[in-house]
Amino acid sequence: MATQDAYVRQDWQMVRGVPMVCAFSFNWDRIDNFQSRPDDILISTYPKSGTTWVSEIVDMILHDADPAKCKRDAIFNKVPMLEFVAPGKMLAGTEQLAQMPSPRVVKTHLPVDLLPKSFWETGCKMIYVARNAKDVAVSYYHFDLMNKLHPEPGPWSDYLEKFMAGKAAFGSWYDHVKSWWDRRNDYPLLYLFYEDMKEDSKREIKKIIHFLGKDLTESAVDKIVYHTSFELMKDNPTTNYKMVPTALMDQNISSFMRKGIAGDWKNHFTVAQNEQFDEDYRKKMADTTLQFRTEL
Ligand code: A3P
Repeated sequence: MATQDAYVRQDWQMVRGVPMVCAFSFNWDRIDNFQSRPDDILISTYPKSGTTWVSEIVDMILHDADPAKCKRDAIFNKVPMLEFVAPGKMLAGTEQLAQMPSPRVVKTHLPVDLLPKSFWETGCKMIYVARNAKDVAVSYYHFDLMNKLHPEPGPWSDYLEKFMAGKAAFGSWYDHVKSWWDRRNDYPLLYLFYEDMKEDSKREIKKIIHFLGKDLTESAVDKIVYHTSFELMKDNPTTNYKMVPTALMDQNISSFMRKGIAGDWKNHFTVAQNEQFDEDYRKKMADTTLQFRTEL
């Protein structure tokens, strides 16, 4: 493992045409050759789309809706990120996962084309969560400000242009959400929306319970709704990422659990930025049936 400085605030590295977090980009064979298991549950998202929220919901479903059991460890240990690598003592995601007993819950931000083949072959359960592009851009900007494994995002106006051009880690939001949407035609994945979860988290949690083939009482579902609310997850040291050293994530700059709402983009986009974004969006999303809500 190289020293911390070799990975801190480095530019993206291209992996098969996709911009990747520098620290994650080396030895890509570990990803290509990763062995999925049939009982894995894969949670896939474009960054900042509600990954942590859905991960905690799935962990609660698998642990009898018992918050004490879910506080056994930090979210990034309970649901390791497949492609993760960091300087220092933290294990790479592939190493963490190899040691984990089944059933594993696996987090990834990989676009369809970079996902290890074994996931499609084992037929494991997959949940994809999508969030509207404007709120993702704002959330990602704040994340890049505080996440030292990412390059400095620079001024918001430049950042937004880079986001629209797909020059963010894990590439184009547009390609990501569309290609995962297309996969649901030939693979039984559950495609969820952050905005639907904000609108009625109980309804969406029930969809996940059904998809995972579980049967929970109404009071257990209510416990999951309560325990995975933004306010509780923000206060919970196992879900708010405060266990990550400040050298990697500086939450004095911006909290990981920042606002947790739909429509925060309105506080950041100028009228001109919004018009330009909408025009570009129409072109990029003209070839899909996928629809997003940008406010509730
Ligand atoms: P904001 O930056 O807009 O607040 P991810 O887990 O994919 O990195 O996504 C992080 C985003 O999801 C952040 O968005 C975070 O606040 C929001 N989030 C996390 N837990 C949430 C919850 N329980 N309810 C609503 N939003 C949540």
